[in-house]
Amino acid sequence: MHSFIDDPRLPDDVTVPALRELAERLARSAGELVRTGRPDQVVVASTKSTATDVVTRMDADSEALLRREIAAARPDDAILGEEEGTSAGTSGITWVVDPIDGTVNYLYGVASYAVSVAAVVGPPDPARWTVLAGAVHSVVDGRTWTAGAGAGATLDGAPLRIGEPDELAQCLVGTGFGYDPVRRRAQARVLVEVLPRVRDIRRLGSAAIDLCLVASGELDLYYERGLNPWDMAAGALVAHEAGARVTGLRGAEAGHDMTVAGGPARVAELVDLLERAGADSDA
Ligand code: IPD
Ligand code: CA
Repeated sequence: MHSFIDDPRLPDDVTVPALRELAERLARSAGELVRTGRPDQVVVASTKSTATDVVTRMDADSEALLRREIAAARPDDAILGEEEGTSAGTSGITWVVDPIDGTVNYLYGVASYAVSVAAVVGPPDPARWTVLAGAVHSVVDGRTWTAGAGAGATLDGAPLRIGEPDELAQCLVGTGFGYDPVRRRAQARVLVEVLPRVRDIRRLGSAAIDLCLVASGELDLYYERGLNPWDMAAGALVAHEAGARVTGLRGAEAGHDMTVAGGPARVAELVDLLERAGADSDA
């Protein structure tokens, strides 16, 4: 899942810089709606996988705006969105969008939530696509990370290049938890192994922002099991293009089973720890 190629083969009418620019415009535009349209009291419109996996009216409104703007700019592209699923296209490009990543933070008014927009080439299947461009717009503070395949990553226009601490014990590590209680029990068990071996843990509540914080050095490492393609497509490219290693466990690519990101040497140590802890299983 989520492979990265510096020089991808593209349809004739497409360039990585143009897709990156459009991804940023889309993420900012939906972010503006999410920011200005937030009522004092956000209500839950429905729930998905569990009673705490919520959807607000703004999740639907933000995705509708993204779909309208994509259709206007590139009518032949496919779209995969968190709330409405897949709509087919003919161009070979798919837009992978999360209208609000960090919906629980949006519900409570905690500042970490974002609009995440990525363009991928290939079939609308994370196992077979390559991420071309992405943008993550943090709604409350307006910070925007972007990346293009082989073209680097930026935060508000400034190029990003990660460094890494000398030891795992010095690393600030972001992670997240799924909505399913069975998975959470397993994630808590893994945390017992990780927490004593690192500087500290952050659970900030938006996977897209977490991956971007690795790119901008505000987290040293990040790992999470259970990410969906829309949570990670843009943020994983941003981290990769800033020099991070983004991977799964046991030689797999980053994806739903496990995503680990950070400086290559410390990622190797964290991967080893997570493999020994069985972090890619819910048992
Ligand atoms: C969630 C957030 C959270 C992560 C969950 C995701 P949502 O996305 O990214 O940080 O831990 O795995 O599902 O539901 O807010 O769009
Ligand atoms: Ca999400």
